[in-house]
Amino acid sequence: MTDVIIVPHLHAGGAAAATLLAAVLSQKPDMVLGVATGSTPLPIWSALAAMRLDMSRVSAFALDEYLDLPPGHPESYAAVVHREIAVPLGLNPRKVHTPDAQADLRDAPSAYESAIRAAGGIDVQVVGIGRNGHIGFNEPGSSLSGRTHIANLAAQTRRDNARFFESLDQVPTRCITQGVGTILDARRLILVASGRRKADAVAAALEGPVTASVPASALQLHPDVVAIVDEDAASRLSFADHYRMSAPHGDAA
Ligand code: F6R
Repeated sequence: MTDVIIVPHLHAGGAAAATLLAAVLSQKPDMVLGVATGSTPLPIWSALAAMRLDMSRVSAFALDEYLDLPPGHPESYAAVVHREIAVPLGLNPRKVHTPDAQADLRDAPSAYESAIRAAGGIDVQVVGIGRNGHIGFNEPGSSLSGRTHIANLAAQTRRDNARFFESLDQVPTRCITQGVGTILDARRLILVASGRRKADAVAAALEGPVTASVPASALQLHPDVVAIVDEDAASRLSFADHYRMSAPHGDAA
């Protein structure tokens, strides 16, 4: 089932998610952490870094990677994960994985699945949500049982991510992404969303029908999901009052 925690703003959400992750880490210092790139999770990484926990035994797996960027491009997710997550958290670079965009693309998806399996599976996966309801880069219409695969980015996603590039033309059109089925294999999922522009997607994902048109709605099928959303992202939820009443005391950071 999904626990929905509504927080006043993005930073409170980061603190709440970091607290959940720290609790898992204290039980399992070699936990396998699934990381999302993008803006929304940034306060999670800074809150976690501020806790100064020993994360040197943690393995990390990114959700996705762009294709067709030159190796070492600063906006490749390998570079972003290293800069924004691995360095601040003190992760061992050898234990940090992104799908290999430079490898033979016939093998890269299954190699990534094998690497996740070899690490013992993902204990906690952090996921953001696209304005169009994507998770990872599983755009509307993606299979809800899909595994890691090569995919095209939706036009909306390329426009949204153009802020990281000099122009829209430079945003890759292809990616390699964990499939929705891969994401659902994680033992626990933390969905984070912030801002009014995510409100429709959040409502569709948490309260709408489970449908390939909103890949994030597949999270409803997972037994252990915590959705941490700020007031703006929660503004279209029909049952917001119910979630507020059901939140365990102290959860809403
Ligand atoms: C990133 C990813 C995407 C983002 C989503 C939200 O690895 O898989 O699904 O989580 O596009 O991005 P932000 O947080 O930048 O709005």
